[in-house]
Amino acid sequence: MLEAGRKSEAGITLAKPLAGGRPSTCGDRPRDGMPSLGSAGGCPAPWWLRISTVNCLDQHVEKSPNRVALIWERDEPGTAVHVTYRELQDLTCRLANTLKKYGIQKGDRVAIYMSVSPLSVAAMLACARIGAVHTVVFAGFSAESLAGRIMDSGCKAVITYNQGVRGGRTIELKATVDEAVKNCPSIKHVFVAQRTDNKVHMGDRDIPLEEEMTKADSICIPESMDSEDVLFMLYTSGSTGKPKGIVHTQAGYLLYAALTHKYVFDYQQGDVFGCVADIGWITGHSYVVYGPLCNGATSVLFESTPVYPDPGRYWEVVQRLKINQFYGAPTAIRLLLNYGEEWVKKYDRSSLKVLGSVGEPINKEAWQWFYEVVGEGRCTLVDTWWQTETGGICIAPRPSEEKAEIVPAMAMRPFFGIVPVLMDENGEVIEGNDVSGALCIAQPWPGMARTIHGDHQRFIDAYFKAYPGYYFTGDGAYRSHKGYYQITGRMDDVINISGHRLGTAEIEDAMADHPEVPETAVVGYPHKIKGEGAFAFIVLREETAHADHIKEELKTIVASKIAKYAVPDHILVVKRLPKTRSGKIMRRLLRKVVTEQSSNMGDVTTLDDPSVVKEILDAYQKYKEKNSS
Ligand code: WT7
Repeated sequence: MLEAGRKSEAGITLAKPLAGGRPSTCGDRPRDGMPSLGSAGGCPAPWWLRISTVNCLDQHVEKSPNRVALIWERDEPGTAVHVTYRELQDLTCRLANTLKKYGIQKGDRVAIYMSVSPLSVAAMLACARIGAVHTVVFAGFSAESLAGRIMDSGCKAVITYNQGVRGGRTIELKATVDEAVKNCPSIKHVFVAQRTDNKVHMGDRDIPLEEEMTKADSICIPESMDSEDVLFMLYTSGSTGKPKGIVHTQAGYLLYAALTHKYVFDYQQGDVFGCVADIGWITGHSYVVYGPLCNGATSVLFESTPVYPDPGRYWEVVQRLKINQFYGAPTAIRLLLNYGEEWVKKYDRSSLKVLGSVGEPINKEAWQWFYEVVGEGRCTLVDTWWQTETGGICIAPRPSEEKAEIVPAMAMRPFFGIVPVLMDENGEVIEGNDVSGALCIAQPWPGMARTIHGDHQRFIDAYFKAYPGYYFTGDGAYRSHKGYYQITGRMDDVINISGHRLGTAEIEDAMADHPEVPETAVVGYPHKIKGEGAFAFIVLREETAHADHIKEELKTIVASKIAKYAVPDHILVVKRLPKTRSGKIMRRLLRKVVTEQSSNMGDVTTLDDPSVVKEILDAYQKYKEKNSS
């Protein structure tokens, strides 16, 4: 247990004695078999109303305070930090009291722009504890993306680090926040924690977080919340418009994250659960933070990259931390596969029981390598399909039941309560097996998103309009002759770059800022490592010898307006884009070009001028020849 004045492993110096050992002052005694609130001090409302953090912290602190909640695998190899449930509760309560001190209240929105660490987890839980709504913004997003999310959600505060550290490089988080909040009048305070020893500029509204936490009380009575109150929102891309703030609520989300974590990964008490996703994505929310903590698990926080300091990093961590379940993205597996098996075999992986894949379709080669080389053919490999909107895994094999039956690269079976259906082009349900269609879900489930922040109509339009009465996922799927599901990919203008979801319209909107480029169209193309990459077709205002220069400028614009990963790999100048008579760009044709399926262009009769197809194909061929030589 931590003592006053001692620096905690998570980097906080504690000034006041902790709550440990204090008798419970709860007025409402727990019912038989239900966890009590013990260490949280006097409580004005029954425990079951204070949903998230009580389930993620207090119930475990009561029973086993010294169980390790988080293992922070820092970027610097071999410097892992262990944080017990008691310590995490302490961090959370101090952070929560700090937020309160600066006027953050139930219902307020708070942006978290931090790399993964015990403090960033505590920041999420602290918001939940006081009933504030967190919106975590992936620390790789640009200042403009961050500002857009802050403005849309009306955040009152941002919690950030002075700098981040990833793959041996420092990332200027605070400087990016400064840039972002310049135009965000709703922001009253920026809480700045220290990840590195470097000093950063601190202005009037900036508050040194650890200093305040040291002074803060370590007891924070959780706010009473209704099961349908908002827990968090998380921005994700759609096929049109700006990213949307997907809203998840207290009880249903937490229940669903916890249940899927337990059953899909066969999580047993004492297991070390290693999900290497960042907290900036839904995977980090559900399977680094909420699911594992609700189940009293030990959850690994992975701050680094799969290739730092070398391509053995994941497996060295598996060996050192004795990870039992390893959950990662196909893009990383494809990357590591290229470095060869030696990097895996160097390390003892006997602790591994279940491997998981998430975020994008996993190709057979990557599946086999993950299964045979990493898992020694001994571990169950679960390909898990879900979305930011679904809150948790919806389609996946269940390791406890059917290891022998799992078909490579198949998401397999719906989770409890999920009713998938496939739809044909006329909006009719497709019955039977060995069929493909648009993947919909026929009835609600606890973890489903409740709305889009500030725009419920957009929520209805995006998910419930295409197939009335059904939730439309945006994905296509195949149902095998045995009734198992395989996800075939997005059916809309959303692409998936290294497991990161992006609307092609967002890239187009960013590029539209260039004065020399009146028109653009972006489509996804298959990329060996990233799964998909962005391919941009652009029209220039006038012919110029500076096309290469303009392309570089476009790349810079996209990086600064969205994020580095959104930058198109290819930019091809064309004279005009394929448009219908009503002026709509036919991206479908461009997709055929970049996936080299031009022999099967489909129906082109609605094109304004069908000769544009040959024009673009010729330009593409020339571009390919030039770039392969
Ligand atoms: C989209 C959702 C799921 C959390 C991380 C991404 C694609 C996700 C799989 C999978 C094939 C998958 C879908 C989905 N996707 N998992 N196992 N097989 N495709 O969440 O950013 O909301 O993206 O990712 O296209 O719609 P997200």
